[in-house]
Amino acid sequence: MNDADPAAVDEQRRGSRLHPRVTSFRSRRGSLTDAQQQAWDRMWPRIGRDVTAPDFGSFASWFGRDAPLILEIGSGTGTATAAMALAEPHVNLVAIEVYRPGLAQLVQHIEREDIGNIRLLRGDAVEVLESLVAPESLTGVRVFFPDPWPKARHHKRRLLQPPTVALIADRLRPGGVLHVATDHADYASYIRSVGDAEPQLTALDWESPMTHERPVTKFERKAHRAGSAVTELIWGKIGA
Ligand SMILES: C[S@@+](CC[C@H](N)C(=O)[O-])C[C@H]1O[C@@H](n2cnc3c(N)ncnc32)[C@H](O)[C@@H]1O
Repeated sequence: MNDADPAAVDEQRRGSRLHPRVTSFRSRRGSLTDAQQQAWDRMWPRIGRDVTAPDFGSFASWFGRDAPLILEIGSGTGTATAAMALAEPHVNLVAIEVYRPGLAQLVQHIEREDIGNIRLLRGDAVEVLESLVAPESLTGVRVFFPDPWPKARHHKRRLLQPPTVALIADRLRPGGVLHVATDHADYASYIRSVGDAEPQLTALDWESPMTHERPVTKFERKAHRAGSAVTELIWGKIGA
C-alpha cells in the first residue's frame, strides 16, 4: 500500500483556473469518422454538453424528468455505459469523458438503440463534481478502470486521491454508492486505503440503491486478455 504524495494532494486541493490542477487524463487527439460526425451533429445538441458551456441548468431539466442520478467518470467508448443504461431505465445516467472519439461511439450507440436515459458531458469530471453537481444529490458514482498512472512520478495524476474521493463523497446523497473497478493491483490497494479513510464513506453493508452488476468494459477486456485480476471496490455514503 502506498500513501498519497502530500505535495500532489496539496496541488490538487489548490487547483483552480488560475492554477490549473494536475489532471488525471492525457490529451489525446483523434478524429471522428464521417458517420460519427453526422451522429454527433444530430444528437449532441440534445444529449451532450461541454463541461465549460454556460447556463447549465439542472440535470432533471436536461433529462426531462427527476430520477436517481448516477455519474460515470471516464466512460471511454461507453459500451458498459449503454448496457447499464438499458438495464436501469429508472435512473438518469451521466457519462463524463474528455476523449471525443470515445464519446462519439457512445453517441452512435445511443442513437442506434434509442437509449433515452444517458446524457454526456465532455470535460474534466472533477470540474463537473465541483461546479455542476450539488452536495448530496447523487445516487451513485462509477469509476471503471481509471488510468492507473503506474510510474511513481505520475501518481499525482491519479484521479482517485483523498481530495477527489472526499468531493465524490460530498456529492453522494446519504446511502449513495461509489463503485470502482480496476485491474491495477497497486492502484486498487491505494484506492482501498483512500476510500476506507474517507469519513463520509463506509464499506457497503446495506441494500444498495444501485446495481453492482456491470458489463465487461472495453478496457477490462484488454485486462482479461493480459491475465490481470480485477478488483471491485464499493462504498456507501454514511447517513442513510
Ligand atoms: C482506462 S480508460 C477506461 C475507460 C472505460 N471506463 C473502460 O473501462 O473501458 C480511462 C478513461 O478515463 C478518462 N478520464 C480520465 N480522467 C478523466 C477526468 N478527470 N474526467 C473525465 N474523463 C477522464 C480517460 O480519457 C479515459 O478514456
